Amino acid sequence: MAEAILQVVLDNLNSLIKNELGLLHGVEKEMEKLSSTLSTIQAVLEDAEEKQLKDKALQNWLRKLKDAAYEVDDLLDEYKTEASRLADDNKVHAAYLTCFRPNVLFHHNIGNRIKDAREMLDGIAEERIKFHLREAVADRRVEVRARRETGSVVAQPEVYGREEDKEKIVERLVKDVAGSDDISIYPIVGMGGLGKTTLAQLVFNDDRIKRHFEFRIWVFVFEDFNVRRLMTDIITSSGGNVSEAWNLDLLQRRLKDMLDGKRYLLVLDDVWNEDQEKWDQLKCTLTCGSKGSSVVVTTRLAKVASIVGTLPVYRLSDLSEDDCWLLFKQRAFGNDTEPPMNILAIAKEIVKKCKGVPLAAKTLGSLMHFKSNENEWLHVKDSELWNLPQEENSILPALRLSYANLPVELRQCFAFCAVFPKNAEIKKERLIHLWMANGFISSKGSLEAEAVGNEIFNELYWRSLIQDFAGDNGSTYNQIYKMHDLVHDLAQSIAGDECCITKAERPSDHLSRQTRHVTFTLSKDSFTIPHALYRVEFSRTLLIQPTYPIILTNSGECPSDISKFHRLRALEFIDPRLTKF
Ligand SMILES: Nc1ncnc2c1ncn2[C@@H]1O[C@H](COP(=O)(O)OP(=O)(O)OP(=O)(O)O)[C@@H](O)[C@H]1O
Ligand SMILES: [Mg+2]
Repeated sequence: MAEAILQVVLDNLNSLIKNELGLLHGVEKEMEKLSSTLSTIQAVLEDAEEKQLKDKALQNWLRKLKDAAYEVDDLLDEYKTEASRLADDNKVHAAYLTCFRPNVLFHHNIGNRIKDAREMLDGIAEERIKFHLREAVADRRVEVRARRETGSVVAQPEVYGREEDKEKIVERLVKDVAGSDDISIYPIVGMGGLGKTTLAQLVFNDDRIKRHFEFRIWVFVFEDFNVRRLMTDIITSSGGNVSEAWNLDLLQRRLKDMLDGKRYLLVLDDVWNEDQEKWDQLKCTLTCGSKGSSVVVTTRLAKVASIVGTLPVYRLSDLSEDDCWLLFKQRAFGNDTEPPMNILAIAKEIVKKCKGVPLAAKTLGSLMHFKSNENEWLHVKDSELWNLPQEENSILPALRLSYANLPVELRQCFAFCAVFPKNAEIKKERLIHLWMANGFISSKGSLEAEAVGNEIFNELYWRSLIQDFAGDNGSTYNQIYKMHDLVHDLAQSIAGDECCITKAERPSDHLSRQTRHVTFTLSKDSFTIPHALYRVEFSRTLLIQPTYPIILTNSGECPSDISKFHRLRALEFIDPRLTKF
């Protein structure tokens, strides 16, 4: 996640260069050099982030870079504070018609420290050469695309618990929209690995669908929504030929000829494109089939669905725990074998971790297939998903795509959410304020920081990375949200040691000097700052959550030790009786 903090630092730095440089004259050269070094490093970070999963030396390099980036960010913060203090002084001086007197010592000091930081980052930038990192990551994209490519055949020997979903979609297509003159576009939306493609395959191969549509076409789309390529794929999937020499116009005419007057079903699987214009370009070529022609679009992104859909979105729900169990069992033990008695209860606990995501059930089932020792089972049951071995096609790498697809300025905001415990209620306003306190977001032109935060929050919501919080009776609440457990695992895997949730009495091993955001849960009936807190001296966010009312040592005041945390930007005691600190 180094690229995320680097982006935050670069934004802060560039806004300082633009707006406030005149106040402390002389450091601008250093700042500009710093900005250029950071940009050089940034160019190779996407590649580095991918490769680090298998390269320890690269992991260390990224860790060093992250620490350095945080250090620079702290420096900038000091600089900004001093700059605005001087600006205030200046106003006062001006009022008394005296001259502007900058703080010379501070000026000298900060100049040197920025120079040191820049030299340190230059060293880190030099080191990158030995990792042979690429600036363009097109090759990797091609690999990922090849790995994810889908066809219309159901790959799974048995599909569990999607009969009802299939019925609803088939009914819609063969009955409800059969007489519609306009093309119907039906988006299926859900988080990664939930089974959207599998469901679309079930629909595609249903006998009623086969009878109803003259043409059935399956096209795998993925990130590159290239209209030319899509048209070529549609033509060739329906048995037509295409010449490489054809221009767009010829392709369009060929496609129209093929579809003209025919009732067809087109499945566009795995769509990420949010560009309305590209979509319109494709759509206008598709509107030539006969009544009832339909397009099913599968996507992780609700925003895509809202752009393309003409029918209400089909939001795929989690698989039930029973169905998850059947899938897991089939993978781990085979169809005809029952789990041994000593394993059964552990296996059921493991399935609970899957939280209704078939990809997780399937992957964990496959992982356990070769394990017969009870201890191995217990180990997986007690492990966090992000600590388990990660194959290319397994859960986190699949979910990671949603992170890789996030605009870089959203990444830090997303990863930060790992600071909330799993299943926690996330209040929108609170989260935005925590982002602001940490400097992840700031005002943009005429937009106040809160409004920017609101946009970012909505963007995460539209991408299914944050979802509605459903109470016990299933109803949702305004302004209260949560993260799906597996998305939380994703955020945690990205944040690494940077975010940590821990019991104060039994601090996690993950608490370290690298930890910047911590939630401490307290369960004792008296409160003193837990000793473990001193391990996180660079902490920026401290959320202290007693699990039942606490008695503060000092009649409702926050203990004075808290002032030792110089880098602290957000402190939250969740105790209504706390009156001041
Ligand atoms: N109901 C199910 N029963 C059995 N296996 C399933 C079921 N749904 C999905 N799977 C399996 O889980 C894996 C993930 O499913 P699928 O690829 O359909 O998810 P997706 O929602 O399309 O994911 P992505 O967002 O990455 O495209 C696949 O290997 C699929 O075979
Ligand atoms: Mg899919």
